[in-house]
Amino acid sequence: MRFAVAGAGAVLLLAGCSSSSDSAPALSVGAAYIPQPVSDMAAGFLTISNKGGTQDELTSVTSAAGPVTVHETSGGTMSEVTSLPVPAHGQLVFKSGGNHLMFEKLERKPRQGEKVTVTLHFAESKALEVEIPVESATYVPKTGN
Ligand code: CU
Repeated sequence: MRFAVAGAGAVLLLAGCSSSSDSAPALSVGAAYIPQPVSDMAAGFLTISNKGGTQDELTSVTSAAGPVTVHETSGGTMSEVTSLPVPAHGQLVFKSGGNHLMFEKLERKPRQGEKVTVTLHFAESKALEVEIPVESATYVPKTGN
């Protein structure tokens, strides 16, 4: 009986090992845009894809353009969050009506055709610098993913 219990433990340990030796997070960013803002506040949208076998976490976003916070929307109400998971073999999606980046106090109102550079910081991966194009205020991204 005692042997059987030890055996079960060993199996669990093995399972844990094989999942942690899975590939590290491999992140890329796409579908980024900022609708041209009408005030010194702007929302930013993008998709972070993770090809790796390990979850990562977006922990903060910084920009020379001004302070940026990360918001999620649930039940029509948005609230600031300190981090959001980027699932293994999955995506963290920021889109209109959902998660978004919030530029609270832009130094200068960016206009359509310009770019706003932000740096995404993660728990595991190296920081990613992203140039987010400013689109028209009514821009709607093409669907597909
Ligand atoms: Cu917001």
